Amino acid sequence: MKLKIFDTKELASEYAADLIIDKVKNNKNTVLGLATGSTPIQTYKSIIEKSKLYDISFAKVKTFNLDEYHVIDKYNEQSYHYFMKENLFSKIDIKLENTYFPSLDQNYDELIESKGGIDIQILGIGLNGHIGFNEPGSSLDSKTRKEKLDQSTITANSRFFNSENEVPKFAITMGIDTILKSKKIVLLAFGKAKYKVVHKLLNTTKFDSNFPASALVLHPDVEIICDKESYEK
Ligand code: GLP
Repeated sequence: MKLKIFDTKELASEYAADLIIDKVKNNKNTVLGLATGSTPIQTYKSIIEKSKLYDISFAKVKTFNLDEYHVIDKYNEQSYHYFMKENLFSKIDIKLENTYFPSLDQNYDELIESKGGIDIQILGIGLNGHIGFNEPGSSLDSKTRKEKLDQSTITANSRFFNSENEVPKFAITMGIDTILKSKKIVLLAFGKAKYKVVHKLLNTTKFDSNFPASALVLHPDVEIICDKESYEK
């Protein structure tokens, strides 16, 4: 795993956006794996700015989102469908029919493969070490599936809802195996709250199902992108 530390999350996000923009510039048919949560928002802003500045078209790009709540209406403001439209898709020239979200009525892993596999997968990290919604206990060979959310995840994500009761108890998430099949993985972690989990990840040497992000040590091309707050005490 390569580690990159930036003074601010804005600079870190700009770096992540450059990785995506360069990829799309060199290959119009790039397949991206996308994440939600507060962490990647600035990266998406930067992608929007740079796509305008350098006239980069996303018309042939395909995207696969990591996860989505189950069950939630895609027009619900808390859904990840809504998040992606608001924060990225409506602001670049991507075709919505080329944007995919996991659901139970399709084989998502096969669908990803049929489009050539993910070139760059963006990830955040949960305070309990989850990636996507692969909660502690997720196995290394897990594929896209329905996952029961940890109580700690429900509590953490309640900040986006009116109350904890409103947070869905289940999600559909890419599995660990699905994520590891991506050609490149970029994990973003910003802010003091992520200090502990970032250092746990950086000190990891082997996969531990109680700490799902540890699977990343098995992948040959992972960049961990931190701001100073998440890295320095
Ligand atoms: C959420 C998402 C993850 C995300 C994580 C961190 O529950 N399912 O994909 O990476 O939690 O979120 P944040 O970026 O808001 O800290």
